[in-house]
Amino acid sequence: MIIINDEDYIAEGFARKCYLHPDNNQLCIKIGKPEVEEVHLYKEIKYYEKISKKDKNKFDYPFYAMYHGTVDTNYGEGFVYDLVKDETTLKISKTLLDYLLMDDSPFSDDQLFEAVQRLKHQMIKHRVFVGDCRARNICCQVLKDGSIQLVIIDGIGHRDFLPLADWFGYFAKKKVERRLVKSRLQSIEAQREYIKEVRIQYDTTP
Ligand SMILES: Nc1ncnc2c1ncn2[C@@H]1O[C@H](COP(=O)(O)OP(=O)(O)OP(=O)(O)O)[C@@H](O)[C@H]1O
Ligand SMILES: [Mg+2]
Repeated sequence: MIIINDEDYIAEGFARKCYLHPDNNQLCIKIGKPEVEEVHLYKEIKYYEKISKKDKNKFDYPFYAMYHGTVDTNYGEGFVYDLVKDETTLKISKTLLDYLLMDDSPFSDDQLFEAVQRLKHQMIKHRVFVGDCRARNICCQVLKDGSIQLVIIDGIGHRDFLPLADWFGYFAKKKVERRLVKSRLQSIEAQREYIKEVRIQYDTTP
C-alpha cells in the first residue's frame, strides 16, 4: 500500500484531491472525494483505456497527462497520472486558470491563444475529446526555451452512443470546436468573461 502524506497535497477540484506520488516525483495520485459517486470517477478511466492504443509518437507533444492505473493507498483507491511540470523550474505547472487570474501573467493572451489552437489541432488530429476543457482542467507547461504548451489534466472523454467523431475527421473537428465553445475556450476573451461571470454570480472556482 502507498502511504500518502498531507505534505504531498497539490490541489483539488470538486471531485478529486491530487497528491504527489511519494515514490515517483514524475507522477501524481488522484483520490476521489467521499461524496463523489464512483461511476463519475470511472468514466474518465474507461475513456483512457480506450485511447491507450493511440500511437503517442505521432503526437506533436504529450497534450494530455497519461494515466497509469490504480493504486491502493491509505486514502483509498488512487488513480495515477503523469505529473505536469515546468521544464524551467521542475515545479508543478500552473493551470491555465492560474495564469488567467494573475495580475501580471508572463504570457500574453495572444501567446495563450496560440497554445489553445495547438492543443485544439492535436485533439482533432488524434481524435481525443475533452468534455470539460475549462482553464482549470488544463496545465500550462513552461518549456526550456520559455515557450508554453497546454496539457489536459482532467475532463477527458465522451459518451456518444454512435461515436462518429472517433471515426471521421469531419465529425472530430466539429466535436472539438463545439466542446471548446461549450467550455467557453473558443477564445481567451471568452474564457475570461466566463471566469468573471462565475466569480460574480457563484463566488466559486471557475
Ligand atoms: N497531472 C497533473 N499535473 C499537475 N497538476 C495537476 C494534475 N492533475 C491535477 N492537477 C492539479 O489538481 C487540480 C485538481 O485536479 P482535477 O482537475 O483532476 O480534479 P477534479 O476534482 O476532477 O476537477 P473538477 O472539479 O474540474 O472535476 C487541478 O486543477 C490542478 O491544479
Ligand atoms: Mg478538474
